[in-house]
Amino acid sequence: MFSNKVVLITGASSGIGAATAVRFASESAKLALTGRNLENLQVTAQKCQEKNNLKPLIIKANLDLDGDVKYIIDITIKTYERLDVLINNAGIFFVSNPEDANMEVYDKIFSTNVRSIYLLTSLAIPYLTQSKGVVVNVSSLAGLRPFSQFIPYSMSKAALDHFTRCLALHLAPKQVRVNSINPGLVPTDIFRRAGIPDADVELIFEKSKESHLLGRAGTVEETAEVILFLASEKSSFVTGETLIMDGGCHLNTTAL
Ligand SMILES: NC(=O)c1ccc[n+]([C@@H]2O[C@H](COP(=O)([O-])OP(=O)(O)OC[C@H]3O[C@@H](n4cnc5c(N)ncnc54)[C@H](OP(=O)(O)O)[C@@H]3O)[C@@H](O)[C@H]2O)c1
Repeated sequence: MFSNKVVLITGASSGIGAATAVRFASESAKLALTGRNLENLQVTAQKCQEKNNLKPLIIKANLDLDGDVKYIIDITIKTYERLDVLINNAGIFFVSNPEDANMEVYDKIFSTNVRSIYLLTSLAIPYLTQSKGVVVNVSSLAGLRPFSQFIPYSMSKAALDHFTRCLALHLAPKQVRVNSINPGLVPTDIFRRAGIPDADVELIFEKSKESHLLGRAGTVEETAEVILFLASEKSSFVTGETLIMDGGCHLNTTAL
């Protein structure tokens, strides 16, 4: 479905981004994979190559640095001479509340989850316009529903969702589609990286059996499948959408 299409995936070194890379590889996409952890990127790239025998472009870059963001686009275009799909997946999570007044955490979350996506997408627009391409933003249920334990994270995802809607409006005349996926809980490293103790992470996922009406959390593979759908011609008339993928959690009145 994606042969000869160039797909750039941020956060491809872990979790949802890594699974998405492998899924696109199985559709013969030409991949540009970014992250900070080179070793993990190489593991993802190897799995991709096993799917389609195409060697992905690996880009070690920190999205919090504008120069690195620019480098991601420059090296992708230098290598493939086009860009068809941009998947803004990289993101960070922290538990933080207004009482903390922790502006360091606030700035970090907004730098990675909002600012870097704005810059990377801006730099990608000329190439996406040429290819009549697609943007898929990996947001969260937290962008659409209020959660009281991680307010800056939720705010960042709400900002991302509004970026999706505004950019869809802005780029529709150029035939570029822009959508978000809004997952519920998916087991990845994101919670451990946020400094949440393993026992608490276990508890969160135990609770998800009730909060997610289908009785479980999602998987990275299920998430990758929806991302693939939003990037593909199968969703050719969908733009500006925030697609919830949460096993019905948004229908539940109990907290996560
Ligand atoms: N897991 C969930 O339950 C869940 C639910 C809803 C939404 N999401 C969203 O899904 C996306 C992927 O998260 P995940 O769960 O797969 O988390 P993850 O396993 O922790 O992966 C996060 C990825 O983002 C990259 N990243 C983070 N900060 C970066 C930076 N400054 N520069 C470059 N890369 C950076 C990481 O790269 P390195 O490892 O190389 O540093 C890693 O590849 C995030 O946007 C998250 O908000 C996750």
